[in-house]
Amino acid sequence: MKDVELVIKSNIKVSKDIYLMRLEGDTSEVKNCGEFINITLPNHYLRRPISVCDYSSDHIDILFKILGHGTKDMAGFEVGSKLKCLIGLGNGFNIRTDIKPTLIAGGIGIAPFMAVIKKYNSLGIRPQLFYGARSKDDLVILDEIKEMADIFMCTDDGSYGLKGTVLDLIKHENINVEYYYACGPYKMLEAIAKEFNDGEVSLEARMGCGFGACMGCSIKTTEGPKRVCKEGPVFKGKEVLW
Ligand SMILES: Cc1cc2nc3c(=O)[nH]c(=O)nc-3n(C[C@H](O)[C@H](O)[C@H](O)COP(=O)(O)OP(=O)(O)OC[C@H]3O[C@@H](n4cnc5c(N)ncnc54)[C@H](O)[C@@H]3O)c2cc1C
Ligand code: FES
Repeated sequence: MKDVELVIKSNIKVSKDIYLMRLEGDTSEVKNCGEFINITLPNHYLRRPISVCDYSSDHIDILFKILGHGTKDMAGFEVGSKLKCLIGLGNGFNIRTDIKPTLIAGGIGIAPFMAVIKKYNSLGIRPQLFYGARSKDDLVILDEIKEMADIFMCTDDGSYGLKGTVLDLIKHENINVEYYYACGPYKMLEAIAKEFNDGEVSLEARMGCGFGACMGCSIKTTEGPKRVCKEGPVFKGKEVLW
């Protein structure tokens, strides 16, 4: 974990309420895809946790959706302004090469998968991605990832791809899910973890400290309570007591 000041290099609106922001500076503390950063916002007491969407040693990309006051403020931040961030937080995904990876994203849960897809590509593996959202406009960063993965899409309202959930989509495509990596709404993650044998889910929780000190983000697992910010946010699907 490292406390750094990062400069906003770009802050691009990619849909009605979703933004892709590039933060530049010393980001060498980010070690794994699936980690998150915790951003200090002016006039807000708690930091805001956001997944690392993509990273290198000198930048982090984040993809965020406006939910409340904090993310609304972030959408208005000017290029060139500085943000204080805690980086190198959380465990990240366990990138396995002994299986065919199936990535499953719901809504803004697509965020950590840009780095995961790039990581797999660098290992000579083209992953399959099942990506669901409320409607067509909520399917984002497709231009960035479309050449790097086999992408199947669905929407709740049927405005793009299959009308239904990602689980419907996987069944529709008759895909054998050997090992999954999933990120998205809690109900989606629960359904996936109960449907498939083996894989990992990236969970969200309301966070206090964000680095393991307050226990505010604990969840129940088969091995007792675990902190989403410290032992997570990535857990084996089967270890979470849903
Ligand atoms: C590990 C982790 C990674 C995340 N990654 C991303 C990401 O990549 N992109 C993204 O857009 N969002 C992500 N989130 C969610 C993000 O942290 C919240 O959307 C953000 O903190 C909301 O701040 P706000 O000030 O806009 O909303 P607030 O005004 O704080 O809250 C608005 C509403 O959202 C609810 N809420 C706030 N935080 C959370 C939360 N963590 N989980 C569930 N409900 C919440 C509140 O209860 C309230 O109803 C992540 C959360 C975690 C824990
Ligand atoms: S937010 Fe404090 S322990 Fe996780």
